[in-house]
Amino acid sequence: MTSLNSLERGMIRAVRLLTRPGRIVHAALRRIPVGSYELRCALDLYPRPHYAYGVQQAAVLAQRLGIPHISVIEFGVAGGQGLVELDRMAQLATEATGVAIDIYGFDRGEGLPKPSDFRDLPYIWREGDFTMDVAALRNKVPRARLMLGDIEVTVPEFLKLERVAPIGFVSIDVDYYSSSVAALKLFRGSPEHFLPRVFCYLDDTVGDDDQIIHNEYVGELRAIAEFNETSATTKLAPVNGLSAKRTLAAPWNDLIYVAHIFDHPEYSRYVGRADSQTQLPLHA
Ligand SMILES: C[S@@+](CC[C@H](N)C(=O)[O-])C[C@H]1O[C@@H](n2cnc3c(N)ncnc32)[C@H](O)[C@@H]1O
Repeated sequence: MTSLNSLERGMIRAVRLLTRPGRIVHAALRRIPVGSYELRCALDLYPRPHYAYGVQQAAVLAQRLGIPHISVIEFGVAGGQGLVELDRMAQLATEATGVAIDIYGFDRGEGLPKPSDFRDLPYIWREGDFTMDVAALRNKVPRARLMLGDIEVTVPEFLKLERVAPIGFVSIDVDYYSSSVAALKLFRGSPEHFLPRVFCYLDDTVGDDDQIIHNEYVGELRAIAEFNETSATTKLAPVNGLSAKRTLAAPWNDLIYVAHIFDHPEYSRYVGRADSQTQLPLHA
């Protein structure tokens, strides 16, 4: 635990920038609104690069599979800033790929519920935190569908809905272990609800070190471990080497997982680029 004042926190930010010059260039580029959608995604220039990455990857996968319409989901909406950005990323991905994208937001609408036990980390999160102005949010993102209520109830209801396009991207930011367990029950749904690989952003697997020390025994990491232990055909796994592949490694790289639905009828279908090299000639 540390107790830094605002001047000291500012100094730390300045030292981080100065010791990693790439960050200064990146921060500057983020503010300049130029470059195509693809370029801005590749350089992680959008304000929530994890949403840009996840939605783009889902749309491209759908395009390669010939699926014209997908869904993306945010579990834990709170004030709605994330849902607004998810909507913007979906619109840009649709323009780039031609794949239509529906948006769903799941939340109680009344802030965090009562914690169940120590695994919900009540030493840092409290009942009632993160309230929501439902009317204002509906106004701001009219095309997003809000699934209001406890996700323990709304997830099974959602899986019974008809005409939901296959899910390609899921963000889970519900803080508690118990709520993450409930959100992950989505992946107990049958394969036709999903793309064969679903990109996921799992927010509560890393936290500020003066607050939360996440580990596999508590919180969202516990929920992921239990899901993987009990699911034979769907596994959640990080994208190995993602930070090395991005132009600038960033903390969000470690929060990206993919739900691999091994019994999905399309799981093994080839989705490599049509122009990918199939011969590797020996050059002199
Ligand atoms: C940290 S906030 C989400 C912040 C949001 N993703 C963003 O980026 O602005 C967590 C949200 O999860 C919701 N939540 C937690 N447990 C829930 C549950 N069991 N059912 C429904 N919503 C839940 C809370 O209501 C709260 O709004």
